[in-house]
Amino acid sequence: MELSSSRSLLVLRLASATAALSTLVQVVLVLLTVAQVGKLIGAHGGVGYISLLATLVATVAAYLWFRKGGSRGLLMHAGGLVVLMVLQIVLGELKATWFHVGLGVVIVVGVVALATLAYRKPGGAA
Ligand code: HEM
Repeated sequence: MELSSSRSLLVLRLASATAALSTLVQVVLVLLTVAQVGKLIGAHGGVGYISLLATLVATVAAYLWFRKGGSRGLLMHAGGLVVLMVLQIVLGELKATWFHVGLGVVIVVGVVALATLAYRKPGGAA
């Protein structure tokens, strides 16, 4: 199968798009809480575990794709985000709010970049 139409790249694309979408939903839930539309921080935290799971799946797919000749950069990018998300969940649960918000901005940018790269410029040997 050609590298650019490999199943692992397809999974990497879908999982990273899911991760990007769910972190954006998390930002909306925080904004709605700040705007006092509802107390949605619990939901924000819950969706955070979905973001982590999607990023984990993206990392496994990136690894499988890398082994077929795909990009090492995407694997490192996805794996790095998993580490940051675990730290982010710890900071959220500990109520270390300002560290959490700062890291949150980094994660949102990183996860949107991952999905964009996976779709538009996945790189790799072929
Ligand atoms: C710009 C992005 C983000 C912002 C502005 C943000 C903001 C917040 C805020 C204000 C809280 C409440 C902290 C407190 O009670 O003092 C919180 C909690 C939490 N956040 Fe985030 N967050 C962001 C991204 C994320 C991401 C990406 C994850 C997971 C990967 C995450 C997971 C959590 C968790 C697990 C909690 C604890 C929820 C609870 O206490 O029930 N957040 N976040």
